[in-house]
Amino acid sequence: MKENNIYPIFDKMLGRKEKELLLKQRSVMIWFTGLSGSGKSTIAIALERELHNRGLLCRILDGDNIRSGVNNNLGFSPADRIENIRRIAEVSRLFIDSGIITIAAFISPNHEMRDLAANIIGKDDFLEIYVNTPLIVCERRDVKGLYAKARKGEIKEFTGISSPFEAPEHPALTLDTSLLSLEECVHKLLVLILPKVTI
Ligand code: ADX
Repeated sequence: MKENNIYPIFDKMLGRKEKELLLKQRSVMIWFTGLSGSGKSTIAIALERELHNRGLLCRILDGDNIRSGVNNNLGFSPADRIENIRRIAEVSRLFIDSGIITIAAFISPNHEMRDLAANIIGKDDFLEIYVNTPLIVCERRDVKGLYAKARKGEIKEFTGISSPFEAPEHPALTLDTSLLSLEECVHKLLVLILPKVTI
């Protein structure tokens, strides 16, 4: 990219393979998508603990955390959501290139955003997990009280209420937390993930 006087040196640095050998694991992107309150973060945290207990190094990136830090200048317009996901995907790629199993829990409400993330990270490393807990259940839980506010019109462009959510077409796994316990969700994830990350 000589036009902007930028000269990346990634090719001179230690590579992913060397870091994976150091950590004795293979890295992968575990990308949760689903409505607010569907259970993405809860599952991500429980999954991280199980992988950690098996000696595997993970990093969780989560909506509310990232939005209070690196993405604290972004809102929920379509353009800001795309930029949110683009930055998260770029950050995730750095973790994956460091051999770290990276777990993202973001609504990422449409195909365009999830495709963008998969293309930045690399499709072979991208495991899309759809937490398809029904809207009615998420709204009944209303852990953060945001659905009530959205219904009253106090929050604009709220996913599922006044902003669309497009279901993934070919997720690696679908988990409905109104039908499955947390332990069952994590078990299904381990069956999928452990063969991919074990050297
Ligand atoms: S995304 O659509 O850009 O992927 P992200 O996962 O980062 O969303 O953030 C979602 C979280 O932000 C929700 O769980 C909720 O706590 C909060 N939030 C605040 N306003 C909105 C909104 N308009 N739509 C969805 N979530 C919102």
